[in-house]
Amino acid sequence: FWPRLTLLSYLVTTARSVLEHELETIRTGGTWKGERVITSKQGPHINVDGSRGDILNFCANNYLGLSSHPQVVEAGIEALKKYGAGLSSVRFICGTQDIHKDLEQKLAQFHEREDCILYASCFDANAGLFEVLLGPDDAVLSDELNHASIIDGIRLCRAKRFRYKHMDLNDLETQLKESQSSRLRLVVTDGVFSMDGDMAPLKGICDLAEQYGAMVFIDECHATGFMGPRGRGTDELLGVMDRVHIVNSTLGKALGGAAGGYTVGPKPLIDLLRQRSRPYLFSNSLPPPVVGCATRAVELLLTSNEIAQSVGDKTMRFRNKMTDAGFTISGSDHPICPVMLGDARLASLMADDMLKLGVYVIGFSYPVVPKGKARIRVQISAAHTDQDIDRAVDAFIQTGRKHGVVS
Ligand SMILES: *Cc1c(COP(=O)(O)O)cnc(C)c1O
Ligand SMILES: *[C@@H]1O[C@H](CO)[C@@H](O)[C@H](O)[C@H]1NC(C)=O
Repeated sequence: FWPRLTLLSYLVTTARSVLEHELETIRTGGTWKGERVITSKQGPHINVDGSRGDILNFCANNYLGLSSHPQVVEAGIEALKKYGAGLSSVRFICGTQDIHKDLEQKLAQFHEREDCILYASCFDANAGLFEVLLGPDDAVLSDELNHASIIDGIRLCRAKRFRYKHMDLNDLETQLKESQSSRLRLVVTDGVFSMDGDMAPLKGICDLAEQYGAMVFIDECHATGFMGPRGRGTDELLGVMDRVHIVNSTLGKALGGAAGGYTVGPKPLIDLLRQRSRPYLFSNSLPPPVVGCATRAVELLLTSNEIAQSVGDKTMRFRNKMTDAGFTISGSDHPICPVMLGDARLASLMADDMLKLGVYVIGFSYPVVPKGKARIRVQISAAHTDQDIDRAVDAFIQTGRKHGVVS
């Protein structure tokens, strides 16, 4: 009796101390991720950590301001009333409603691809794809800076792995030559990379892929809805919509921001994913309100190009004013605007000071970005007014002077 209890409490104590030790390592390593609690809806102005209103928000992926768009919210409420809270099922048992089929069809139309499959998240979409498409005789060639979900997805599949240097076409060509003997080859890249807002050289990638007989896959999470004249994505902007074979993206960013991810591509691939993709087969269907919101967001984009264009001017206003003030903003014209600071501590202190001035931004440092390249990542939304942007720039100038970043 006693020895058993003692053993149990000993184990619990040991487990606790192992976990505490691990947590301490994260804290002392300076990579602890805190979570600030928001008590309002997502938007340009939010309540954070008990603030009374008006914190300016510059760190959401709400690029088009659709997260709290009245029509998007209304569509969610309608779907909730008509279709209920959820399906209590996966898609293939009894979890497919007409609204799921409709959203898939609209997303395929939006991306001008044959078919679409919905997932609970883009993370899942990525985890599901490679395993189904690629076997041991195949190869995947992936940019070294691809998103964690792609890296995990590739780990799950049995294809040979080749990593090419970030956006380096020469290195990609070398890897294509080395993988010549594989049956299928898939070049995998983010369309836009989330830390720098830089765009993959898709035209060059497609040229090489065609030359060497490989397929091209892009993850468009930070592009869908606002890159390109109609917001169709990086492939539209760079004129290669008909040359990129598979696209994954998310409903959790510009397209209403709720949740969900998807893959669009050739019909046989989508059919096979419905049969074999584990995150699709063994995870619950997207809840109707989520489907309702996303459908409305896509409809808004399908009927007008204005929304897709609405974030560009705001982005240029921020980039120009910050550059004029002496800051270094990397990337070119993406609403991800990394304010480059170099030092990790500086980035974190400045972000704290910005919040004291009512502007919510986040500092990123190693290991999320390379050592010595710490930055504050500002994300512009179409929902920001010119005054919001000017207030953020003023706060940057004030904190930048305090820390000797600008004069
Ligand atoms: C956000 C993001 C994901 C994850 O999308 P979720 O739908 O939130 O799971 C995947 N890939 C990239 C490039 C992303 O930026
Ligand atoms: C895209 O979706 C497929 C389908 O499941 C998934 O396997 C793949 O990992 C996804 N990739 C990205 C980058 O989202």
